[in-house]
Amino acid sequence: MTKYFIQLNDRVVPYGEATIHVGSAAMKYAASVFEGIRGYWDAGRQRLHLFSLSEHVDRLLDSMKIMGMEHDWSKERVIRNIHNIIMVNRLQEDCYVRVAASVEADGPLESKGPVLLSAAAFPMQRKPHADQGIHISVSSWQRISDHMMPPRIKCIANYQNGRLALLQAKSDGYDNTLLLNQNGKIAEAPTAAFFIVKNGMLITPAVTSGILESITRRHILNWAKKLGLPADERELDRTECYLADEAFLCGTGAEILPVVSVDRYELGCGRIGPVTALLMRQYFDAAYIREQSLEPSVEDIVIYPKEEIENADAALPI
Ligand SMILES: Cc1ncc(COP(=O)(O)O)c(C=O)c1O
Repeated sequence: MTKYFIQLNDRVVPYGEATIHVGSAAMKYAASVFEGIRGYWDAGRQRLHLFSLSEHVDRLLDSMKIMGMEHDWSKERVIRNIHNIIMVNRLQEDCYVRVAASVEADGPLESKGPVLLSAAAFPMQRKPHADQGIHISVSSWQRISDHMMPPRIKCIANYQNGRLALLQAKSDGYDNTLLLNQNGKIAEAPTAAFFIVKNGMLITPAVTSGILESITRRHILNWAKKLGLPADERELDRTECYLADEAFLCGTGAEILPVVSVDRYELGCGRIGPVTALLMRQYFDAAYIREQSLEPSVEDIVIYPKEEIENADAALPI
């Protein structure tokens, strides 16, 4: 990682110099929001596909708005910086872009700016166990709800909630965990949305259940429609998960991560089920823009051909 450069506002700096002051509101009060975007390297066509870039930048701007940041970052400028850091780092493999907006002021809790926009891009592979499925628990930590913190955006302070749940789950021997919301219904995992499959029907908690408005979840619901798979966004009980035929987590980092047990209740036959497998194939068909892939996500993939990456006149580190 340390060999990669980082974009800080309009400058590019070496990894070790991409710092923010301990007195900043970002450090003191977690006044920071972020996005993660995956890039897929198409080895056959020698090009990088940046997946759902436009939607991620829209959500970053929504996060900045809700967290009261005063800034003059337009969508086009944010995209330009992301583009620049990919070029500077000459990425030609599967990768991840992390873009964050952080209040830099050494001011009080309600400080609104100035806002530092950072963008990092580095290689990233699949999650462990994606090919066998994972074992998850239901956490005793409750998911934050919209009257406490805004779960629908990517404010970094939100992640302390998921972190506590994940620490507990890992020490209890699980790979991941689900948090219940204030009504005792399933919300989501610490960094991923959640679906079950029951009698051929996909079921996922609604966006009012205390979840991040996941872009991957939205793609899956669109693909389900095109594939003729019935899908429902509704309240989901804990015990429905125990009786599910299949389940999976989904998200930019998680991609589609099959779940084979919940609280040690085995799902279906304890292996990746056919609907999950179908959606996993569709996910990678879309990410690598294969012929058989379904719209609409393909329209939202930005393509960087190898020659463009190698010959880019990107900003040089100062
Ligand atoms: C809390 C949380 N929920 C869900 C997701 C999945 O969202 P997306 O599909 O937009 O990456 C993420 C990952 O970004 C997340 O951090």
